[in-house]
Amino acid sequence: MNILVILAHPEKGSFNHAIANVVVQTLRANGHNAIFHDLYKERFDPILPYPEIPKGAPIDSNVEQYCKELIAAEGIFIIHPNWWGQPPAILKGWVDRVIRPGVAYEFEENDSGDGIPIGLLKAKIALVFNTSNTPGERELNTFGDPLERIWKDCIFDLCGVKNFHRRMFGVVVTSTLKQREEWLNEVRNSVT
Ligand SMILES: Cc1cc2nc3c(=O)[nH]c(=O)nc-3n(C[C@H](O)[C@H](O)[C@H](O)COP(=O)(O)O)c2cc1C
Repeated sequence: MNILVILAHPEKGSFNHAIANVVVQTLRANGHNAIFHDLYKERFDPILPYPEIPKGAPIDSNVEQYCKELIAAEGIFIIHPNWWGQPPAILKGWVDRVIRPGVAYEFEENDSGDGIPIGLLKAKIALVFNTSNTPGERELNTFGDPLERIWKDCIFDLCGVKNFHRRMFGVVVTSTLKQREEWLNEVRNSVT
C-alpha cells in the first residue's frame, strides 16, 4: 500500500524521530511503499499565500507534489509533539497548504462554501502519534484534548477518512529508557 508518513519535530534525536523511524522501517519491512517527509529537514514553507487559496488555483510545484502523494495515499501517519494543544506551526502550514480544496475535500456544486464539505481522500486509515508532557487525564479534563478534535473531526473525518486512531505518548520528560522502548514497541505492533 502507498502510505504517507509526515513528521514535524525539529530535533533528530527526539522521541518523535524515534517514533517516525520505527513507523517507516516497519512499513517498509512489511512491503508497503512508505513515503516519508521530515518537514523540518525539508524546510517546508508553512505560509499559505493568498493566491493559492481558491480551489484550482495554481500552486507551488513542491506543494503540488505533496498533494499528489496525499491523493495517492491509502494510509496516512502523522507524528508530532503537543505544542500548546496544537501541531507545530510547520505542520499546521502543511495542513493549510496541502489538505486543500479539490485535493482533500470539496463542496457540492452551487454551494456558496457554507455547506457540509465532501471528503475526497481515499486513504482507508489515518494514525496520529503525539508526544506530550501533560498527564492524559489533565490533557482531557483541563484542556479538552484539542489534538483529538483537530485531527479526528476537523481534518480526517471532514476529508473522508473515518478510520482514525491516535495515541498520545507521555509524560515524555520524566519517562525512563525502558518506558520509551515499550512505547516504541507499541508503535511497531500497531503498524501492519
Ligand atoms: C513550543 C512548545 C509548546 C509545548 N506545549 C506543550 C503543551 O501544550 N502540552 C504539553 O503537554 N507539552 C507541551 N510541550 C512539551 C512537548 O510536548 C514535549 O517536549 C514533547 O512532546 C517531547 O517529545 P520529544 O522528546 O520528541 O521532543 C511544548 C513544547 C514546546 C517546545
